[in-house]
Amino acid sequence: MPIKIAENVFWIGVFDWKLRVFHGIATPKGGTYNSYLVLGDEGALIDTVYEPFFEEYRQKIMGITDLGKVRHLIVNHAEPDHSSSIKKIIDINPEIKVHCTVRCKEFLEAMGVKGNFVVVKDGDTLNLGGKTLRFVEVPMLHWPETMWTFLEEDKVLFSCDMFGSQVISSTMVAEDVTDIEAHAKRYFALIFRPLSTMVLKGLEKCEKLAPSIICPSHGPVWRDVRRITDLYRRWSTSPERNKVLILYSSIWHDVEKMAKAIAEGVASTGAEVVLKDVEELSYNGWADLLAEGMEAKGIALGSLTILGGIFPQLLYATSLLRLVKAKGKLGLSFGAYGWGPGITRKLDDELRALEAPPFRNGIEVRFSPTERDLQACREAGRELGNKVMGVS
Ligand code: FEO
Repeated sequence: MPIKIAENVFWIGVFDWKLRVFHGIATPKGGTYNSYLVLGDEGALIDTVYEPFFEEYRQKIMGITDLGKVRHLIVNHAEPDHSSSIKKIIDINPEIKVHCTVRCKEFLEAMGVKGNFVVVKDGDTLNLGGKTLRFVEVPMLHWPETMWTFLEEDKVLFSCDMFGSQVISSTMVAEDVTDIEAHAKRYFALIFRPLSTMVLKGLEKCEKLAPSIICPSHGPVWRDVRRITDLYRRWSTSPERNKVLILYSSIWHDVEKMAKAIAEGVASTGAEVVLKDVEELSYNGWADLLAEGMEAKGIALGSLTILGGIFPQLLYATSLLRLVKAKGKLGLSFGAYGWGPGITRKLDDELRALEAPPFRNGIEVRFSPTERDLQACREAGRELGNKVMGVS
């Protein structure tokens, strides 16, 4: 069923209940592809949905108005989760005007879309008769062609992927989702944290528009605009908390024992600890790791030694963490070897690449840690925890 957002403004998106991973974001509660319909004297669709859901989408539109007579289609962003239904819409309604940025037109044409394009620029408006849409160019939020659309009379901002999340709420109201901030944070960490500078510029534009409602392309609608914009400001500037992320790979549990001992030491200082075996990435996607990495002031990396080097899955994880790196983090390395030492030197290089330089020598053991080794791990964890907590 369509959901009314404001007078003559409807959410007409679809729920993907089976979605479990989206761009590496774990989506245990499914996800959404949002599209909106604005009705003045003329009608306008804002974005479309992922093409496999087109028939459900078409029926939803037809429940409100005749798709063949909708005059305008606004394309905020060319990525296929929002644009892959455009060709089918044009098949039904060849006269529909496709409004988008010049770069977006170029992208859509490269994707094979032949339409009645209207290129728009920042500040341009479209008068639907009783409803006015203003276009706001926001390049790199998150693709070069991206724009927002602002409905002036109702102060509704259609913000594309920014302020999105991947979770289904049957009401499409963010406040109805108890853990909405965790979903929004995972989405932010993966898509927007690498673009923080642009996010801050976007927040300035958003503040000038002063929307009452934010309608993103995924997940529920924000009526408490301040809540999500404040979160974006914090996550873009200083997301760090008194948290240590301990990330490790371990086949025979030796490195895992060291990781747990470090975790005990960190926890004894009152700092928050997140312990992750890289195996977990296979189940929970990347985005949880990125969200934790974004918030961690300390990162401890541990690995067994395989053919003289770091376990490949851990390298995969650190390459992801580089997306959310920020200066000022602290690093600690630990690991186990059988044939020859040196694993922590390699881990220290990874920590430097994450802008989390090691604050002390790493801890490495041959085969299995002794009780003395584990005590050394606890002490290193306590030292790291104290630094994270600001206690010298
Ligand atoms: Fe939801 Fe960048 O597409």
